Amino acid sequence: MRWPAARAVRRFQQRLLAWYRRHGRDLPWRRTRDAYRILVSEVMLQQTQVDRVVPKYREFLRRYPTVRRLAAADVGEVRRLWYPLGYNVRPLRLHAIARETLARYRGRLPEDERALRRLPGVGRYTAGAIRAFAYGHDAAVLDTNVRRVLGRVFLGPRRLARVRGEKAWWDLAGALVPRGRAYDFNQALMDFGATWCTPRRPRCGDCVMKPDCRSYPFPAPAANGARRAP
Ligand code: ADE
Repeated sequence: MRWPAARAVRRFQQRLLAWYRRHGRDLPWRRTRDAYRILVSEVMLQQTQVDRVVPKYREFLRRYPTVRRLAAADVGEVRRLWYPLGYNVRPLRLHAIARETLARYRGRLPEDERALRRLPGVGRYTAGAIRAFAYGHDAAVLDTNVRRVLGRVFLGPRRLARVRGEKAWWDLAGALVPRGRAYDFNQALMDFGATWCTPRRPRCGDCVMKPDCRSYPFPAPAANGARRAP
């Protein structure tokens, strides 16, 4: 794929940050820089909508306010508390992360990408989120929302044919992070994808990205006349 020009990157960053100042959500995990709390939120948000995560996030942290407390907990109890979010592997992984963080790092989640990714179930996304949100590194995050936004704005409707492989997406996401502003920029991307540049009904009419978005005007009529997201 062709890289966006430096000017286009700067405009995207500025527009997104301005949008976030007006429309960003006040979410409880945005009121902390504690790496453990950020980890809990990001693991919850991996498969669950924000509205359902908020009360469970609060409850979980009341019960297990620190890595040490979670590590000391009975795993069956952690699972039961988690249960309304889905019966799956996430609480087990969080518990295992807490134990390993206590054993290896005296209870402080590491800052280094490789060390983070050695923790159970921590992939590139979660490592990036912890590095950017807790430790202030210029790390990228890339999930389905972010991918959709970047694909629409920079690549246009035929993006999937042009971007091959995960690496290209991560390179694009990494190239866009403004130095020193990864926290706001990444949170903004997530909100923009979740609330504005949505899969089915993006708010293109009053979108700040309109002048540069390669998918605008949207939705483009599909070949069969149906209206379909690019
Ligand atoms: N989804 C994943 N991480 C998120 C975050 N930090 N804020 C809002 N939605 C998210």
